[in-house]
Amino acid sequence: MAFYSDETLEAVQRGNDIVEVASLYTKLRQQGGSFRGLCPIHRDKNNPAFSVSPDTQMFHCFSCNAGGNVFKFIMQVENLGFVDAVVHLAKRARIELPEERKEDSGLKKLREVIYDANAKAARFYYDCLVQSTGEQARTYLLQRRIKNSTLKKFGLGYAPDEWSVLYKYLKGLGFSDETLDRGGLVSKNKNGYIDKFRNRLMFPIFDAMNRVCGFGGRSFDDNGPKYLNSPETPVFSKNRNLFALNLARKIKANEVIVVEGYMDVLALNQAGFECTVATLGTATGKEHARALNQFFRGKTAILLFDSDRAGESAALRAIPILQRENTPTKLLRLQGAKDPDEFLINFGAEAFADALRLAMPPVEYQLKLLKEKSVGNEDGVRSYINDAAAVIAELDPVERDLHIINIAKETGVSVDAIRGKLENMDTTVLPMVNTEAFFTTPKIKTDINEGIMKAYRNILYITATHNVFYKAIIDTVKPEEILYDAFRTLYSDICFRRNRNNAPVNPKDLNSEDKDNQDSVSVIFTNPMVYTNDEALRLALNHEIYFIKKAYIEHQITAAKSENDEKTLNLLGLARRNLPISYI
Ligand code: GTP
Ligand code: MN
Repeated sequence: MAFYSDETLEAVQRGNDIVEVASLYTKLRQQGGSFRGLCPIHRDKNNPAFSVSPDTQMFHCFSCNAGGNVFKFIMQVENLGFVDAVVHLAKRARIELPEERKEDSGLKKLREVIYDANAKAARFYYDCLVQSTGEQARTYLLQRRIKNSTLKKFGLGYAPDEWSVLYKYLKGLGFSDETLDRGGLVSKNKNGYIDKFRNRLMFPIFDAMNRVCGFGGRSFDDNGPKYLNSPETPVFSKNRNLFALNLARKIKANEVIVVEGYMDVLALNQAGFECTVATLGTATGKEHARALNQFFRGKTAILLFDSDRAGESAALRAIPILQRENTPTKLLRLQGAKDPDEFLINFGAEAFADALRLAMPPVEYQLKLLKEKSVGNEDGVRSYINDAAAVIAELDPVERDLHIINIAKETGVSVDAIRGKLENMDTTVLPMVNTEAFFTTPKIKTDINEGIMKAYRNILYITATHNVFYKAIIDTVKPEEILYDAFRTLYSDICFRRNRNNAPVNPKDLNSEDKDNQDSVSVIFTNPMVYTNDEALRLALNHEIYFIKKAYIEHQITAAKSENDEKTLNLLGLARRNLPISYI
């Protein structure tokens, strides 16, 4: 998929000395034959683990483990794809890029026409909304208190209640079936192509460069899912794109508010809180954190998720991810309303501004939740102190001490007792230091999705090493649920050893003559998962177990489909829908 010839790439690379380029992002000091500084990719503030070598023209960060040549550097630090990184560096070195070779420019062309089709579709939806077809949708917006100016500002639209108006319209403009299909605007059924979005209120999603990259569509009734989002396309990914990023990034503010819902963004904008973005119905991940770092440099991200349990656990899960990317973060949970939109309706903008001031840094937030949980609980104080100890255990000593003093005040338990608790805490044999700095995880070649493979790795590693959680995992995850053969065998072996004597299992216990087995053992114990405390680990494990179970059910579904086994399919569908998200 090379877009440019090796010669061109070499010329661009020669014109961009990596030390010079990296110096634009971080201050470097010579140390022997290389240069050192704070890593601009994970935006480190203390530890100069970022190293650049003028000889090899490579960089490496010993903390976040990013590394590579100058293209890779720009891709990571500017959050660009390879081709855009090349263009960026060519510009910098004033090197003219040759016309791309025809056969290679396919993807780029496709992306361009998809952007174009999306823009035309957005315009079409908008026209439908403001014309007579959109009357019902406009009434709906009125009910939801969305002003006309907001409708315009966000370019909202209406996808008519018909099978293929957009398809026909865009075909008339000359777009091909393939473009519309790959762009996620239509889907194929047995009679041909139909519009993906029908009878929905449309939210165009713009990328940072103001191009329409995808859509969200809200239904007006309970028919089908409440929201339908664009599928993953060459220009859209729900893990990376954020709703309203294009508008919010232009706003001067100290904070960027991150919410869950499209409607929340609209309502907050109307109330004057314009530096607001929404995730797109997916968990906050590292790509989101990177986008926040890139487009909201220096701003604190305030996570303001829905007030229900799902919102709360999504916020807790986001904490370690944002911390790893060094995104300054605070968290806020609203009282008296299920989401920001409802809060503004109930209490107004001033009350919201007051609430915003109560946003808390991650540790305080977690402690507050634990405290609430322990109230009225018979064993309240004891369990609060246990849980709180886990949250603060990994902090730096000064911060930890400040928290210990606070907790002592709150509970009446002495400072010494709490300190003792922390000292005796079973932080297990797990290395808490960032071992990733020194290893990269070798990749295993398999068709199984990388995320699932990672879930297996983490589960096997924790089962082997963690002194508390291994029991719950063994009770929950059955070997047959692990689809990768060598890992399944290994997992059975680990369970067997654990059940025999509950001591941690070492790599050397597990090695056999078999090559696949040896590879698996090294993959599991090299570069293991890093977590800040047991509570964070528990959440992460629940996440992984959920994915493992889901992958297993989906695997069975595929099998049942190929056998046309309706009855089993129904049961499996039910099982998948009812899959719990919490196990241990
Ligand atoms: P209202 O219910 O109209 O106020 O919308 P909301 O934006 O507040 O949505 P809600 O809080 O229910 O959901 C938050 C976000 O999750 C939405 O904005 C969507 O991005 C996503 N979401 C919600 N329901 C669905 C769904 O059924 N399917 C998908 N794919 N995403 C959904
Ligand atoms: Mn809502």
